[in-house]
Amino acid sequence: MKVTIVGAGNVGASCAEYISIKQIASEVVLLDIKDGLAEGKALDLRQTSTTLGFDSQISGVTNDYKATLNSKVVVITSGIPRKPGMTREELIGINAGIVQSVATNILKYSPNAIIIVVSNPMDTMTYLTLKSTGLSKNRIIGMGGALDSSRFKTYLSMALKKPACDIDGMVIGGHGDTTMIPLTRLASYNGIPINNFLSEKILDEVSASTMVGGATLTKLLGTSAWYAPGASVSYLVDSVLNNRRKIIPCSVMLEGEYGLNDICIGVPIIVGENGVEEIIDIKLNNIENEKLKKSALSVANMNLALNTILK
Ligand code: LAC
Repeated sequence: MKVTIVGAGNVGASCAEYISIKQIASEVVLLDIKDGLAEGKALDLRQTSTTLGFDSQISGVTNDYKATLNSKVVVITSGIPRKPGMTREELIGINAGIVQSVATNILKYSPNAIIIVVSNPMDTMTYLTLKSTGLSKNRIIGMGGALDSSRFKTYLSMALKKPACDIDGMVIGGHGDTTMIPLTRLASYNGIPINNFLSEKILDEVSASTMVGGATLTKLLGTSAWYAPGASVSYLVDSVLNNRRKIIPCSVMLEGEYGLNDICIGVPIIVGENGVEEIIDIKLNNIENEKLKKSALSVANMNLALNTILK
């Protein structure tokens, strides 16, 4: 099955790497507007197949959407990444135009594709993609919650000094430093509620580190992160292509769930061959509900910036 990744920058290339190495898709197309970049990264990756032992076919193209024909899943990573000190929200003006034109081009050649949106500000870009393409809401998935949850679980494992793969937890809400909501109440270590092991003070610290998880890396790296974002996208692609029906927090259009409407924001969903198979409307406590409402308000305010574009 075929996957296209638009944007051969750090996140797009990492995503292609994990999808290939784990043989999630038989064919991976990388597309970028920068002359030769996607071709170069694809060729470089292809040369790892003999030593790493995989047989996914990887190709790269410069802005040639014909090569993306009949992709089952398309990942949009295009746009500028944030620089140290920048918020994801500051990228909106530039990235909105890019994401909109990519989505239009993609659908010319893959009218049935499931689209995964990575570009920032991610919740607003997911909303934009949905509104400007008019696709049914199951076909557009914003990936932020998958990444934020992986950071949350990592920080929990660091605090616990236990393997991250034994820890469960999720982050809902917007994919922003002040809008995401790590659900510490529901986090667990091998099924045992996490507050049996960590104090409230430590859990608050873990939540705070999670929320600025992306900004911490941007400061260290001078640009935004790519390994965990790429891996989170590959996890989503796997769940769609192989109909794994995993529960993953993602940004999706809400129509009444969690008391919210006309907004794409992170909530747990079941991801399968139809994209969003089900939105899981879990019962939150009052504090969590308040946080989600506040987060939604902030994302909705950001969406207002799209008014001129969506007219
Ligand atoms: C991050 C970017 C990808 O959180 O949004 O690292």
